[in-house]
Amino acid sequence: MEKNIFIHQFNVDRDKRSSLKNHAPLLIWFTGLSGSGKSTVANAVEQAFYNKGIHTYLLDGDNVRKGICSNLSFSAEDRSENIRRIGEVANLMMDAGLVVLASFVSPYREDRENVKKIVGYANYIEVFVNTPIEECERRDVKGLYNKARKGEIKNFTGVNAPYELPLAPDVEVDTTHLDLDTIVDMIIKQVIGKIERK
Ligand code: PPS
Repeated sequence: MEKNIFIHQFNVDRDKRSSLKNHAPLLIWFTGLSGSGKSTVANAVEQAFYNKGIHTYLLDGDNVRKGICSNLSFSAEDRSENIRRIGEVANLMMDAGLVVLASFVSPYREDRENVKKIVGYANYIEVFVNTPIEECERRDVKGLYNKARKGEIKNFTGVNAPYELPLAPDVEVDTTHLDLDTIVDMIIKQVIGKIERK
């Protein structure tokens, strides 16, 4: 940290803000290949939380990259900075008392570890959307795999850039075989105990 920066202690802190809500803050991090179904799953989980009166915010690759991270490319270095910024934004949102859902390819283990450090290990749940690349490529919703195979996109995860598998995700789902309701139930089951007020 810059040495001339001092942290001010404000009267209303995280615990006080959080006490106004009927749940604790948490970060649910969705990682997986492009086209794996991360955004679809995160969207459905957010809807389920909303129905339960839980205050959420969903951070997603495509919308974050149009705003706070619009100056970043898909080089390994820029992806790390992308994920670091998202971790910091998520932490601020958790300070405000929210349950944050973050849906990013986040292909590097070290970057995901860094997010855990930023928000605190106890406040982080990792969901690995482990849909095989063959299925992601078959869907190719945005036509990006086709472009990457033709060499029109460099650093495309799974084609010409790596995806480092999560070693111990809290939840692992494959959207090829499971229906969305089942996936949402699996995630809610894993998460609900962490956000319930003791
Ligand atoms: S990362 O790796 O976490 O920084 O990526 P992220 O911010 O999640 O952005 C991924 C979305 O950007 C599109 N896109 C690419 N993805 C992977 N590799 C390359 N080179 C690339 N170029 C563009 C793609 O639409 C991703 O969206 P999703 O929703 O994952 O398909």
